[in-house]
Amino acid sequence: MPGQCQQFTMQALANDKKRMEAITIKTPEDIAGMRIAGKLASEVLDYITPFVKVGISTGELDRLCHEFMVNVQGAIPAPLNYCPPGYTPYPKAICTSVNDVICHGIPGDKVLKDGDSVNLDITVIKNGYHGDTSRMFLLGEPSILSKRLSAITYECMWLGIDKIKPGAHLGDIGHVIQQHAERAGYSIVREFCGHGIGKIFHEAPQVMHYGKPGTMEKLLPGMIFTVEPMVNAGRRDIKEMPDGWTIKTKDRSLSAQWEHTVLVTETGYEVLTLSAGYPPIPDFIKLA
Ligand code: MF3
Ligand code: CO
Ligand code: CO
Repeated sequence: MPGQCQQFTMQALANDKKRMEAITIKTPEDIAGMRIAGKLASEVLDYITPFVKVGISTGELDRLCHEFMVNVQGAIPAPLNYCPPGYTPYPKAICTSVNDVICHGIPGDKVLKDGDSVNLDITVIKNGYHGDTSRMFLLGEPSILSKRLSAITYECMWLGIDKIKPGAHLGDIGHVIQQHAERAGYSIVREFCGHGIGKIFHEAPQVMHYGKPGTMEKLLPGMIFTVEPMVNAGRRDIKEMPDGWTIKTKDRSLSAQWEHTVLVTETGYEVLTLSAGYPPIPDFIKLA
């Protein structure tokens, strides 16, 4: 299906063309659908949280989430069989990225152990609309580094989100995220980025997690996109695994990621992927 999944990978430097593609402005009907899908995605994470414990396998987490999405929510797991150009179909319902895995970790036999960190990335489709969100989980007694990396990455995401309002630029988001991560001594992954989302999983724009204020696209009410910084404790370089999906840090350093789907409103933003079990929002954010 050429054209449909083109926004999947970033390859930002080579992809000026993609950036020029029009960003859709969602209708009130679209926005209503996206609110529902976003909440469901977040509720999958609420549901799975008590299971994310030392001794469980990533495959079991996938199985539980898959069942919940299909049987309880009446939703479709968007990753399953997702096949952007140049990829093989993604074989599972969720992504489980452990320790030095940056993103797109495929669930399997891997058993989570004390001190591991894992990102669970959930995308549901409900009534044709996509909701996309991820959280970090730290198991047992995590290292100080692991806790700090996850906390800084969470702050990066929220600092970026908090820049969103009509008239702001995507570069404003990237800049604040990059600055916060790099001041902490960490690095920002550049090959993958946030993305427009709606009836299509990955669409324009590409939301870079680095950049300069006042650059890139100007935001308008009705745009919906994700903010999903990937932050490495070491260098930013990535390494693709032979499975064709799993992305690790080249230097094997830890990596963290958090993700929300966000609507640009008339006055600012609305985070669509919140739910009852969502972790506390940082103090510096004043939600309207
Ligand atoms: N949820 C991921 C994102 O945030 C994409 C995962 S695609 C998959 O964009 F096929 F790996 F699941
Ligand atoms: Co995601
Ligand atoms: Co996403």
